[in-house]
Amino acid sequence: MRTATGPLLLCSLLNVVSATGQVTELEPEFLAPLENHTVTQGRDVYFTCIVNHLSTYKVAWIKSDSKAILAIHTHMVAQNPRLSVTHNGHNTWMLHVSNVQKNDSGTYMCQINTDPMRSQMGNLEVVIPPDILNDNESTESGGSMAVEGGTVKLKCHATGVPEPSVLWRREDSRNLVLRHEGGREKQVVRSYDGDTLVLNNIQRSDMGPYLCIASNNVPPSVSKRFVVKVHFHPLIRVSNQLVAAPMSSDVVVQCYVEASPRAMNHWMRDETGEKLPPSDKYIMTETVLNEYSLLMNLTIRSLEKKDFGNYVCTSSNSLGKAEGIVRLQELHLTVKSTSTASTPKYIDVKSRKQQHKEKSKKWKRPKGRKEASEYGDAEEDQEVTTVALPELQTPVASQTATPASTRTPLWILHSNAAVGFSIGDPITLGLISLYCLCRQ
Ligand SMILES: *[C@@H]1O[C@H](CO)[C@@H](O)[C@H](O)[C@H]1NC(C)=O
Ligand SMILES: *[C@@H]1O[C@H](CO)[C@@H](O)[C@H](O)[C@H]1NC(C)=O
Ligand SMILES: *[C@@H]1O[C@H](CO)[C@@H](O)[C@H](O)[C@H]1NC(C)=O
Ligand SMILES: *[C@@H]1O[C@H](CO)[C@@H](O)[C@H](O)[C@H]1NC(C)=O
Repeated sequence: MRTATGPLLLCSLLNVVSATGQVTELEPEFLAPLENHTVTQGRDVYFTCIVNHLSTYKVAWIKSDSKAILAIHTHMVAQNPRLSVTHNGHNTWMLHVSNVQKNDSGTYMCQINTDPMRSQMGNLEVVIPPDILNDNESTESGGSMAVEGGTVKLKCHATGVPEPSVLWRREDSRNLVLRHEGGREKQVVRSYDGDTLVLNNIQRSDMGPYLCIASNNVPPSVSKRFVVKVHFHPLIRVSNQLVAAPMSSDVVVQCYVEASPRAMNHWMRDETGEKLPPSDKYIMTETVLNEYSLLMNLTIRSLEKKDFGNYVCTSSNSLGKAEGIVRLQELHLTVKSTSTASTPKYIDVKSRKQQHKEKSKKWKRPKGRKEASEYGDAEEDQEVTTVALPELQTPVASQTATPASTRTPLWILHSNAAVGFSIGDPITLGLISLYCLCRQ
């Protein structure tokens, strides 16, 4: 029996007569399950609860792990300004969570106060993109610098939810070389997984920028850059220890330098020991090849008698000093337009170079890829200057003893100088530099 009071009358409209003839009230029912959400911290999210036949019952939102009642109908219970509830006036209730925080994760329940109560649940997972802490613990044992043979330890402390994984690689995509302490074994890898990268027995070729990259599948991934420096005593190599050029020509002498930290590089005359100043006479250039190697060029212009002799290149840094010597000797040209017998042979630069390359294999230190990189691949890059032949390693005594006119020297024309003249022509030697490959 029902009394016809206002609200109940309304409710009775929802009643139907069952097959048995009894009046049955339709129970509230959920029309769709509560969604699960994975949300990045700081974003907004909402749960949608759709209920039919709610009747006089109420929809409440509960955080089921803490059992805290968040809201009843449209009335907020929780004192949390980031939470709110909306109702569309019909069958849909929404719980909004704005600026989601880590502690918002958990299970949310949409509950109806029937007896027994009805509810459905949805999960909120809050994820946080990776971050790398900028602490000063990140580089240990003297930071990212070590003397060659020492150890550099780089550390990347990453945070994020879920916990990020850390990967290391070199910025220029060269391989990482992991050497065992005190041992000879080494591992060459493209990348290394782990918080801490330890570079034992570090070599100059390990120098350069490294990246640690933290990722946890929540974009964006982050990286931190470490510049690894390896310090060592300077090293100089001279590929062309003997350079011959005629009077009044210009000539280039060159030294290959490896040094770190950055060195002061100079040219000197052997005889005076004085630093050569840059001038119209002497033009110095340095071509940087990589973090620790460069080529020093000295151009000596309009050669005069006094310019022949030894030139010394020096490189000094806090760990020491190195020097190399280039001997510049006069080239006596004996070109006569009538005589073919004493005419020097001019050789095609290209084929001569190739010939040289083949020859040079015999005496250059054998090197695999790894060794080549330790020398900055400089030899491979310097086509014109690699005219040193085995004979030129200790050439001075025997050659100066032989009068130039009795030899049949072979010449190499500096690549830029191979401009129109042919055998027998009078040669203008203005800007043409000639390298003597004076083979006996
Ligand atoms: C939400 O996740 C729970 C457990 O992870 C799962 O049982 C439920 O089916 C998911 N709900 C939806 C709507 O996918
Ligand atoms: C959740 O974290 C936010 C900020 O991180 C804080 O303001 C709030 O009080 C925390 N709420 C609870 C229930 O711990
Ligand atoms: C970081 O460096 C500052 C000063 O440079 C120092 O005061 C602080 O203690 C250091 N922190 C750690 C964790 O080493
Ligand atoms: C240095 O000299 C070589 C020839 O010895 C030349 O090929 C190169 O271009 C020179 N570099 C500079 C920067 O002058």
